[in-house]
Amino acid sequence: MSALAAQGLRQRTDYTHKFNTRAGRHGWLRLTPAYSVKIVEALISRHGRPRRILDPFCGTATTALSAAYHGHEGVSTDINPFLVWLGSVKLARYPRSVLASTRAAGARVLDAVGRGAVEPVETPPIHNIERWWPATALTFLCMLKSGIEQESEKPSPERDLLLVAFCRTLIGLSNAAFNHQSMSFKDASQLSIPFGGDMEQRFRDDLQLVLEGAHNNPKGTGQIVFGDARNLTQVIDGPFDLIVTSPPYANRMSYIRELRPYMYWLDFLDSGRHAGELDWSAIGGTWGVATSRLIRWEMPNGSCVHPLLVDSLSKIAHDDNKNGLLLSKYVAKYFNDIRDHIVSLLPLVKQGSELHYIVGNSTFYGVLLSVEKIYAAIFEDLGFEEVQCSAIRKRNSKKELFEFDVSARWPG
Ligand SMILES: C[S@@+](CC[C@H](N)C(=O)[O-])C[C@H]1O[C@@H](n2cnc3c(N)ncnc32)[C@H](O)[C@@H]1O
Repeated sequence: MSALAAQGLRQRTDYTHKFNTRAGRHGWLRLTPAYSVKIVEALISRHGRPRRILDPFCGTATTALSAAYHGHEGVSTDINPFLVWLGSVKLARYPRSVLASTRAAGARVLDAVGRGAVEPVETPPIHNIERWWPATALTFLCMLKSGIEQESEKPSPERDLLLVAFCRTLIGLSNAAFNHQSMSFKDASQLSIPFGGDMEQRFRDDLQLVLEGAHNNPKGTGQIVFGDARNLTQVIDGPFDLIVTSPPYANRMSYIRELRPYMYWLDFLDSGRHAGELDWSAIGGTWGVATSRLIRWEMPNGSCVHPLLVDSLSKIAHDDNKNGLLLSKYVAKYFNDIRDHIVSLLPLVKQGSELHYIVGNSTFYGVLLSVEKIYAAIFEDLGFEEVQCSAIRKRNSKKELFEFDVSARWPG
């Protein structure tokens, strides 16, 4: 039994994205690598007076939204334009008049769809789209999207809220199953796609849920900025009093892969190549074209592999491991990027400020990668103090996989 399992750490669904589904705006759309709002609230609520809180890896904006609900200023960056849009919609303040006009617009859209008074938009260029949606659902979604566009041609809060509801509906009507870390497809035997009026009712319910969340406006403020966490000073200004984040894990999870249905429907993606390019721009991306780029990737001149990694990299790259060399490059690049990110953070942290990085460890070909220890070593190398790794939960049934809070304090 591992030392951590022996400490009695267990899998906790309240510490995963599943907890967020019942938490108002946090539950609007699911992203499986989102962390639990409960973890974030525990870290944020320790700080009484209003502060500037940064999350450089925004995802679904869990940190920025929690910060704003607690009356702080939440600032977040992400390299994915869809998540920047979604986070901004989640953080906006909605007066009652906007809620009423959105409700009315939603009713007009459904009425027009029901009467067949809209010209369906073209189906998005998603590979094997018929695996995602049965023909009836696809037709309904094309009409619904067209109805929303017709109702609100220009960007507006009403259009944003309708589109969030549309995203919920499109994923609800899809064959996508979220029964493990990432997305797969349900068996045909598991499908229960409603028809006609039921699909309309689903959109009505989704819009209702979105409007209920929108009704609860945050006290504080928030801002989501498009940008690369390896070049933070190019896009945001410090100083920040607290940093709470969950960076991409070193586990080859592709956010684009999971987000692609929303991104294609909302015109944030137009081809598989585009998806691969976006994944390559993200830390830890290895999807599509990102894989072939990774094969050619070399450690930049002047940078070096962290001593804690050397042994793991050579074990992963062993000839017996089919894609060992590729994966050892993946891990080397991942930590090179994370170091660049932390270096770019330094000018933005206030003296004495605290950082919390929620990270999971990984295994490659049976080699345990103690991701948390490498983060801790990078923080120490760069001058942070009080660096600690606290295990939070067991990640899944694999006995050696855990999630940690790697915390540190900037001197001062
Ligand atoms: C683990 S997810 C964050 C989840 C988030 N805590 C939440 O609750 O939804 C990591 C995020 O980092 C983003 N990301 C990856 N590389 C990035 C980069 N270079 N700069 C900024 N964001 C990046 C991904 O798009 C993804 O949204």
